[in-house]
Amino acid sequence: MSRSSVFLLGLLVLLCSVCLAVPVEPFLNKRGATVPNLSGSAVVFGAGTYPRANKLSDGSILGVYTAFSGGNNIITTVRSLDGGQSWQSWGVVTQGPSNANDIDNPYVLQLPSGRVLCAFRNHSKDPSTGAYTFFRITICYSDDMGQAWSYLSQPASDPGPVNGNWEPFLRYDTSRSTLQLYYSRENSAVDQDTLERFSTDNGQTWSAAQTISGAGITSRDGMTGVATISGTALMAVFESETNGYFTINAITSPDNGQTWGGRNTIYTPSAPNTSAGAPQIINVGGTLAVSFQTNEDLGASALSNNYPGSTAGKLITSGDGGSTWGNKIMVGPISSVWAGLYDIDGTSFLMMFDSGGAKAQQITLT
Ligand SMILES: *[C@@H]1O[C@H](CO)[C@@H](O)[C@H](O)[C@H]1NC(C)=O
Ligand SMILES: *[C@@H]1O[C@H](CO)[C@@H](O)[C@H](O)[C@H]1NC(C)=O
Ligand SMILES: *[C@@H]1O[C@H](CO)[C@@H](O)[C@H](O)[C@H]1NC(C)=O
Repeated sequence: MSRSSVFLLGLLVLLCSVCLAVPVEPFLNKRGATVPNLSGSAVVFGAGTYPRANKLSDGSILGVYTAFSGGNNIITTVRSLDGGQSWQSWGVVTQGPSNANDIDNPYVLQLPSGRVLCAFRNHSKDPSTGAYTFFRITICYSDDMGQAWSYLSQPASDPGPVNGNWEPFLRYDTSRSTLQLYYSRENSAVDQDTLERFSTDNGQTWSAAQTISGAGITSRDGMTGVATISGTALMAVFESETNGYFTINAITSPDNGQTWGGRNTIYTPSAPNTSAGAPQIINVGGTLAVSFQTNEDLGASALSNNYPGSTAGKLITSGDGGSTWGNKIMVGPISSVWAGLYDIDGTSFLMMFDSGGAKAQQITLT
């Protein structure tokens, strides 16, 4: 055989083996437990709203929420040493006068270095009119597991009154040693997109933002949460509002959050003209769980659209990597809002929500 025909034969063998070796692998949920069941009752997380939590390297859980006290908004940390059964107060990230400094939407994450970050919204308001004069996503850091905090960076900022920046979510991509920041940014009163920025220096400096949902669509996409489906496949969930009503939507990334697509609606409320919003997502041992708040059970009385005033906290799961969803349960009664999720051990997890204060409900998959 000539050199070129050997080369061609080799190429053919290579191409065929590639064809044979890469069938599209269906998502495999090895354990198959997808039915959520409440374990015991909800416990007190903290006297405030917007609870979030993440694991620390010492085995404890760091929680964060927004407290309102003495005329201030206070980003407060709590800690659990018993897997989320009880929470003790721990530290304060920052605080400011509620009438001039709208600080809220905290999210905590520990980096591989051990440093803990907290991202939050940090807006300025005109105390006399309440109008927003400046919007910021600010990041503070702690080198003592979330007790003492200092300023680190401000990855997003816009002057008021239009371009609000809301609800930051942090994720660390170990394959690229890169920190990811997801948040929602308003383009107008009726249009908001999901944005993503990257940091390769542990959150000190940030890339320009890329729009990962909402480009070319007039809707309010917000309240983003992100989870790994498997390998490098991710799913982001967010609410989307058009004409005053919210649904739960998702996009996926094949490459650990570099690129996103495949937008679809994963939950529409069961009654017309009601809403489902404020989702978060986690992977619990292969099963995806999505929390949200909805006023769907109010039926006709919801048509005055009192969202989010009279919403229950609910949860759905997917055993096939996010293609189909079901097993809906109510976790927090009316009124429960702004839930977060935390995986305890791949079988049990926490749904944390504000129902007359921040609470944590343990849920087990069976
Ligand atoms: C659900 O949890 C309750 C206790 O909270 C328990 O009695 C029941 O057996 C559980 N159901 C399943 C299917 O595991
Ligand atoms: C929040 O923004 C204000 C400006 O209104 C700034 O003075 C303050 O330092 C910021 N908070 C933190 C913790 O960086
Ligand atoms: C829902 O709202 C639209 C207008 O926003 C109205 O046309 C429709 O009749 C409403 N549906 C119900 C069931 O009330």
